[in-house]
Amino acid sequence: MSEFAAVDVIRAKRDGHALSDAQIDWVVDAYTKGVVADEQMSALAMAILLRGMTPGEIARWTAAMIASGERLDLSAVSRPTVDKHSTGGVGDKITLPLTPLVAACGAAVPQLSGRGLGHTGGTLDKLESVPGWRATLSNDEFVSQLRDVGAVICAAGEGLAPADRKLYALRDVTGTVEAIPLIASSIMSKKIAEGTGALVLDVKVGTGAFMKDEDTARELARTMVELGKAHGVRTVALLTDMNTPLGLTVGNAVEVEESLEVLAGGGPADVVELTLALAREMLEAAGIDADPAKALASGAAMDSWKAMIRAQGGDPGAALPTARETEVLRAERDGVVASIDALGVGLAAWRLGAGRARKEDPVGFGAGVVLKVRPGDAVRAGDVLLELRTDDPERIPAARADAAGAVHVGPDAPAHGPSDRPTATHERTEGPLLIDRIA
Ligand code: URA
Repeated sequence: MSEFAAVDVIRAKRDGHALSDAQIDWVVDAYTKGVVADEQMSALAMAILLRGMTPGEIARWTAAMIASGERLDLSAVSRPTVDKHSTGGVGDKITLPLTPLVAACGAAVPQLSGRGLGHTGGTLDKLESVPGWRATLSNDEFVSQLRDVGAVICAAGEGLAPADRKLYALRDVTGTVEAIPLIASSIMSKKIAEGTGALVLDVKVGTGAFMKDEDTARELARTMVELGKAHGVRTVALLTDMNTPLGLTVGNAVEVEESLEVLAGGGPADVVELTLALAREMLEAAGIDADPAKALASGAAMDSWKAMIRAQGGDPGAALPTARETEVLRAERDGVVASIDALGVGLAAWRLGAGRARKEDPVGFGAGVVLKVRPGDAVRAGDVLLELRTDDPERIPAARADAAGAVHVGPDAPAHGPSDRPTATHERTEGPLLIDRIA
């Protein structure tokens, strides 16, 4: 008979008390083993969302989630290891060019990624549009590829932080995702268990992100940086804008194509800017003195991409899937594009089949949205604003409604003034892409 009862732990948090280390260790372990029931953990998650947790509680909760599974040993990898995690955004394909780029500069990048759920895309879904590429590796394959190629993007194994796997699925259906202690411990338990020596966090802020306002995003970033440091992982966070989609593509194969443009030395300037900013942070955290811009220009990053794709069975030269249907959204009047809302475009891409409604649904590899304009562009009535791509024409009307609501064409130049986020062919008018750095 245990000295603990789930109902006492729930009541303690419900009434605003801090949980003891022993209570936390017990409840996380008992939930992972099925001794604490889903309905009890749901009540506790809601109490944590409403009451919060002290830094000490968050640290202990994270440690308990790490202890629920295995911790990977990367000591066979001679290069310094450094990973990046994004809290998720629309058009956020940065992991694709960044991982091989940082590997080309001398680091080893152990990137365990997820699939998309809701309006934000998943890195694994994007990469699975590359013919032959496989997301699942054994721990031995993961470590060998990290040692030999320096870059791996794959699914997290079942043994890594199983408490989080179970709890995250529960939070998803109980309205308890948006709790900073639970988000921070969920992300950091997986990253710490993966064994990386250093970590750079890209915490997104804006309509297309989990965190809609800067203060909450900053609090999440600080909490994660402290957790990383407490576990001996050099951790830095950038706060970056997610009010406008990143780049000109949102979907799966279309985002791989745009990433290839970046690796070939081109691509939209905001994608290049964020890729280089994160690469510089990762290299600094790994103690490597190299210029990632040179590795892009020289083709070294592209070579590293090809090696990474081949190592996981993919054909880097194969044609990417395209959607069967393309429809366009046109401007109804002359004016200037005032804003393009990330959430609306993300929803449109999701409705077109780029994302999934339930985690077992398949995704359409060719589906997505391609932007033909950026905020600040002058347009004439009839000009194409964006393309909607899908395999299933029945998906178009709902996607069109979301997309039309996302693009705002005003009579005049937008109020924000000149862009801080120019693209190769379009001037940006929204605020800066990089908002803050927390170390
Ligand atoms: N990503 C995670 O891995 N966990 C969360 O709780 C939220 C985003």
